[in-house]
Amino acid sequence: MKFFLDTANLNEIEKAVEFGLIDGVTTNPSLVAKEEVSFQDRLKEITEIIPGSVSAEVIALDTDGMVKEGMELASIAPNITVKIPMTHDGMKAVNILSKENIKTNVTLIFSANQALIAARAGAAYVSPFMGRLDDIGHSGADVIGEIRDIYSIHNIDTQIIAASVRHPQHVTEAALSGAHIATLPYKVLIQLFKHPLTDWGIESFMRDWEARKNK
Ligand code: E4P
Repeated sequence: MKFFLDTANLNEIEKAVEFGLIDGVTTNPSLVAKEEVSFQDRLKEITEIIPGSVSAEVIALDTDGMVKEGMELASIAPNITVKIPMTHDGMKAVNILSKENIKTNVTLIFSANQALIAARAGAAYVSPFMGRLDDIGHSGADVIGEIRDIYSIHNIDTQIIAASVRHPQHVTEAALSGAHIATLPYKVLIQLFKHPLTDWGIESFMRDWEARKNK
């Protein structure tokens, strides 16, 4: 499973890139709004740091509007993936954009059937929302597992991005359920490194090493 960063914050992206384990970035209107910068300028800046897929979401809700916005977003950089919501109009837009060789990421996926429809419409990626499913008492991990099974049975090469990841356990569940990618808030990425026994182990190794020098 690969890691994407789920943010529009440049500082977080620059810090995360230094680890050498981030293959892409996802954004959404809420994440971009927090930044109070020009959407296009910020996307350009992100694509200059990240050579992999950078998802940028359309705001329009009708097919023509989504296609127009999608083409504008795709013209910012070759690695832009146009994020489209799972609606009737959205799937028509995915179909049109995919025929123009523009990659799409279908967002707000909450069921295996939605993921199947998105793949058949031509989506390069689907984003099932783990956290928001768990919030209403469903299992995001189960939905990802179903999507992965269906894609395997039917030889579908659409990639599954586990989204709405809230904590490290979601990352483990996403990997075990067969997500190809997990898109992580910076905070969760940092949490993945941590274990108290690692900290304790380093401290005790250092303590023993210092004690040896004093003998
Ligand atoms: C990413 O593609 C999604 O938009 C994002 O992960 C949603 O996360 P949230 O449910 O925490 O807002």
